[in-house]
Amino acid sequence: SDTMARLDITESFYQTDFPGHLHTQESLRFAQEFEFQDSDTIIVTYPKSGTTWMQQILTLVSSRGDPTPAKSIPNWVRAPWLEQYYFRDILRASQGPRLITTHLPYEVLASALHGSKAKVIYVARNPKDVAVSYYHFHKMAKFLPDPNTFEEFLDNFMEGTVHYGSWFDHVKGWTNHRNDLNFFYITYEEMLHNLRASLEKLCGFLQCPLLPEELTNIQRHCTFNSMKENNMVNYTLIPSEIMDHSKSQFMRKGKTGDWKELFSSKQSNHFDDIFEEEMLDSELEFIWE
Ligand code: A3P
Repeated sequence: SDTMARLDITESFYQTDFPGHLHTQESLRFAQEFEFQDSDTIIVTYPKSGTTWMQQILTLVSSRGDPTPAKSIPNWVRAPWLEQYYFRDILRASQGPRLITTHLPYEVLASALHGSKAKVIYVARNPKDVAVSYYHFHKMAKFLPDPNTFEEFLDNFMEGTVHYGSWFDHVKGWTNHRNDLNFFYITYEEMLHNLRASLEKLCGFLQCPLLPEELTNIQRHCTFNSMKENNMVNYTLIPSEIMDHSKSQFMRKGKTGDWKELFSSKQSNHFDDIFEEEMLDSELEFIWE
């Protein structure tokens, strides 16, 4: 299909344990044929929407606020990417409830998730901030094409020709099927503006009630500043040939509304038009500031 063709941008991938984002047909087949368990929790995001943040939060929820795992195990080992099939041994070997991460679109996983009670946690972020964050990420992530100018990148983003395809299709694809899944939806902006309430809601969904002091500990270890300092989540363990932090840091700004730094008002208006058109049949609302 079109999606598969777009995802399979290259045959090459790195045979190591770093979190690259390139897929072979084999890795996609692995994801499509994956046997989910009802005890699995799956973090689903379009890139740059708060994936790493949610990985950190869920790690801390399962340790009831104890920061040890979140500070000693790299996030991609705690919550491996489904589409990077060299993680399959970690996924197979893991004991107890698994935490799995994916950026794959709904269509790719629909049949594997059919009838599953696995918990799907979808994090969405306003797409202007996603575009800007993704643009900076393309500059530092050497496994992605050079983005050239922001203008050029933004055109590709709006057309859905960037890696992982259209933001609009991704968000609509997953949220339109929320009733077919054991689904929890939250936005990056909601977490940023009220982390405590977001954690409480999340714990309600996970049926994992926590004590106030446990929640406070979780909060402490998943702020932007503490994650920026934590090399198990800030991606500084990755060699600079793969992620060049001198070009842009992974933990870059962690703000809402940073799109204003790069969007011209013309680009912003054009984006608003496309957004309105694409999201006509969606009830999702975003916070842009
Ligand atoms: P910016 O580039 O806008 O700073 P992902 O993990 O999906 O790739 O998303 C990365 C984005 O999430 C980056 O956005 C990063 O700074 C931000 N981020 C990571 N942890 C965060 C946190 N604890 N609070 C706020 N933003 C965070």
